[in-house]
Order: sequence, then structure tokens, then C-alpha cells
Amino acid sequence: MPFRPTVLIALLFASMAPSTPHAGEWAKLAEDGVHDPNGPAIGLLQQPGDALPNLPGDTAGNQVHWIKALRTGVIQPRPSIDPAREDRRLDKDIYLDLYGSMPSVRFPHLAHTEWLDCTNCHDHLFLPKRGANNISMFLILQGQQCGVCHGAVAFPLTECSRCHSVPNNQAQRIVAAIEAEEAKRSAADGDKAATDSGSQSQPRVLDGKAKTK
Ligand code: HEC
Ligand code: HEC
Ligand code: HEC
Repeated sequence: MPFRPTVLIALLFASMAPSTPHAGEWAKLAEDGVHDPNGPAIGLLQQPGDALPNLPGDTAGNQVHWIKALRTGVIQPRPSIDPAREDRRLDKDIYLDLYGSMPSVRFPHLAHTEWLDCTNCHDHLFLPKRGANNISMFLILQGQQCGVCHGAVAFPLTECSRCHSVPNNQAQRIVAAIEAEEAKRSAADGDKAATDSGSQSQPRVLDGKAKTK
């Protein structure tokens, strides 16, 4: 995984999650059970109790709503330490788990690509093709798939409704509409679509300048 400062920052903060007692209170780094109390970094790192209270609050993880912090401009992380590197974003929601016992899962590409590059997930965690991955809650709880980050550097898996956020019938309608649209487009593309399997789902990639906030 390429080095990314934003991921590092999220990692640093989220690593404190297990020890945060409740909203607005953060354990000192030396006492959080994660950092080495005798290590040289302890005197250099900003204490979470100093850094986090001014950020938009949350009720889970490290008590910061990071998406809100980003969207409201409270934090403005650099996309990369390499200025020449392209800032890739994709505004495309994926709906998973349309027929399960839980509400359906809406996976927002945009909220992820505001923090992460495509290569953080594609292709080693997920093939970039809808339905091509056997995503399961069992594997997620084992720290795979979504669980590589959620519960580690992003909000914890106990926040069921932040992923399982859309009623099944509503998600089924949205996916049916997307599929109808794709079928129409590939019919219009004719033979070209038949030979190019990716063309029916061309995503809209936004570059760094076409910011959507
Ligand atoms: C980080 C996102 C995320 C969180 C948080 C999460 N899930 Fe899931 N869950 C998923 C995904 C993704 C799937 C698999 C979707 C599919 O079937 O393709 C799934 C599948 C499931 C399934 C199997 C399908 C179904 O609906 O019966 C159950 C049950 C489930 N989750 C329960 C939970 C419960 C309970 C919690 C909270 C304790 C939870 N999940 C938290 C993402 C999440
Ligand atoms: C946090 C992880 C993550 C990141 C980052 C990510 N994706 Fe995805 N992507 C997914 C998941 C999950 C799916 C759905 C896979 C499935 O349904 O099995 C997906 C699906 C796709 C698809 C298929 C869409 C469709 O309708 O068939 C494309 C294309 C894609 N991603 C492109 C990208 C691009 C381009 C980027 C970067 C701008 C990106 N992704 C960043 C996780 C990610
Ligand atoms: C490579 C790391 C990574 C993976 C893999 C990943 N996420 Fe995330 N996700 C993040 C980060 C970072 C955030 C933003 C910080 C936060 O909200 O805690 C986030 C935020 C979210 C949000 C909140 C969006 C919002 O607008 O508030 C949802 C929902 C979500 N992820 C679902 C999923 C699901 C479902 C999967 C698996 C299909 C997944 N994520 C896989 C890193 C990841």
C-alpha cells in the first residue's frame, strides 16, 4: 500500500478508539494501551484531548466524525506528499446486501476516495466490478474486506446502521434503475459494448480540481 499521509493520520487517531471512554473524553497517549509510554514519540505527539475536541463530534470510534470534518473544511489534508500525484475521486454508490435480514449496505465511493486512492482497495481487496467479490459480514468481522479499515482506521463495526443504511426495497429499486440504465446504454453502444465488458459501467472519475464539496 503506498504511503499516504491522510491514512497515517486516520490510523493514528483510530488506533486510540478502543480506549476512548465516552464522547468528548480521550485517554492520554501514554495511557491508551496503544502507544509505548517510554517511547520517544510520547513527548512529541499532540494529545488527542488537545487535538480532537474542536472537530465535529461522533458517538463511536475516536469520537470524531471524519467525513464531516473533511466536508466542512475543518481539516484539509494534502492529497499526497507527492504534488505530481493525481487526486482521483469517484462519485458512485454501490448497493450491497439487497435481500438480507439487515437493511442494505450503501458503499459510497466518494466518501472513500476523498481519503483514499483507488489502489487502497483495487484490486487487492475488491475487484472493481459490482458483484464480483464475495463480500460477507463474517469476513468483515475477521478483519478482511471492509474490516481491513472499519474497526481499525475508520468507524467501528458496531455502527451497523452507518453501513446497513438503506431499506432493502429502496436499494432494490435503485439498483434496478441503475441496471436498466446500463442495459439501455450498452444497447445504444451496440457491438462496442459487447466486446468491452467494462463499458456498461464507466464511472465518473473526478480529478482534484473538480471538487464536489
Ligand atoms: C463497514 C460496513 C459494515 C458494518 C459497520 C456492518 N456491516 Fe454487516 N455487512 C456489510 C457488508 C458489506 C455485507 C455483505 C453484503 C453482501 O451480502 O454483499 C454485510 C452483511 C451482513 C449480514 C448478512 C446479510 C444480511 O443482511 O443478513 C448481516 C446479518 C450483517 N451484515 C449484520 C451486521 C450487524 C449486526 C452489524 C453491526 C454489529 C453490521 N452488520 C455492521 C457491511 C457492514
Ligand atoms: C474503500 C475501498 C474502495 C476504494 C478506495 C475504491 N473502490 Fe471501487 N469499489 C469498491 C467496492 C467495495 C466495490 C463493489 C464491489 C462488489 O460489488 O463486489 C467497487 C466497485 C468499483 C467499480 C465497479 C462499479 C460497477 O458499477 O460495476 C469500479 C469501476 C470502481 N470500483 C472503480 C474505482 C475507482 C476508479 C476508484 C478510485 C477513484 C475506486 N473504485 C476506489 C471499493 C473501493
Ligand atoms: C481502505 C480502507 C477502507 C475500506 C476497505 C473500507 N472503508 Fe469505509 N471508510 C474508510 C474511511 C477512512 C472512512 C472515513 C472515516 C470514517 O468515517 O470513519 C470510511 C467511511 C465509510 C462510510 C461513511 C460515509 C459517510 O458519508 O459518513 C461508510 C458508509 C463506509 N465507509 C462503508 C464501507 C463499506 C460498506 C466497506 C466495504 C465494502 C468499506 N467502507 C471499506 C475506509 C475504508
